[in-house]
Amino acid sequence: MASKRDLPFVYINVATTADGKLAPANRHFVPFGSKRDQELLLELRASADAVMSGARTVGPMPVNLGPGPAKYRKMRSRKGLPQYNLRVVVSGSGNLNPRAQLFRHRFSPIIVLVTRRAPESKLRRLREVADEVKAFGDKQLNFTHALRWLRKKWGVKRLLCEGGGEVNAGLLQERLVDEVKRRAAQAQIVKTGWRRIISGLEHRQIGALK
Ligand SMILES: NC(=O)c1ccc[n+]([C@@H]2O[C@H](COP(=O)([O-])OP(=O)(O)OC[C@H]3O[C@@H](n4cnc5c(N)ncnc54)[C@H](OP(=O)(O)O)[C@@H]3O)[C@@H](O)[C@H]2O)c1
Repeated sequence: MASKRDLPFVYINVATTADGKLAPANRHFVPFGSKRDQELLLELRASADAVMSGARTVGPMPVNLGPGPAKYRKMRSRKGLPQYNLRVVVSGSGNLNPRAQLFRHRFSPIIVLVTRRAPESKLRRLREVADEVKAFGDKQLNFTHALRWLRKKWGVKRLLCEGGGEVNAGLLQERLVDEVKRRAAQAQIVKTGWRRIISGLEHRQIGALK
């Protein structure tokens, strides 16, 4: 087991429906977060060395994982952090879209974490747009090794994970999560079939997390 000293502090931030769901089953983006959720997200980013998300969140969405307006960059400076946080994307297969919006915002390094099953052709395309592409694990990403490397090579002491559910699940399975911040929309549609804040796990695997 990895020593906590060589791992970052990991905190997850999610906005959910009133019944704790993260996203619709088809993964279409449904904007149910409030203005306050957005402010909270930026406040949380303001104390992170790196912000991390999964390929199915970053690939299709216009996200840049950055610190946002000057007010939040000043907050970072006051805490002795660089104005812009590092950005990390998880894509086990390397299927992450190299044309994703994220790669058009060049204010800080972008690191893509893949597994050894990612084919060289995909890696080559990602290396053209990312600052570093690094493999950990054969089929599933070995988050423990990846986070230890992020701390050692990139100095990441505080890592904010912004989902989606599959990345959240991977971190939880490896017991790497220190804190979960969840904001539930008060008057939100409660629908069955929506994805939970952890996804891709079977019931017995969820039981094992207890
Ligand atoms: N409400 C919120 O706060 C919030 C936050 C974030 C996202 N979302 C929503 O959640 C949905 C996306 O969530 P999601 O769970 O489908 O996807 P996700 O977690 O964003 O990304 C999943 C992808 O990440 C890679 N990955 C994750 N865990 C891995 C592991 N252990 N090993 C190897 N690769 C791994 C895989 O990439 P490859 O396919 O490339 O192998 C996988 O397909 C979207 O609808 C998004 O809008 C909501």
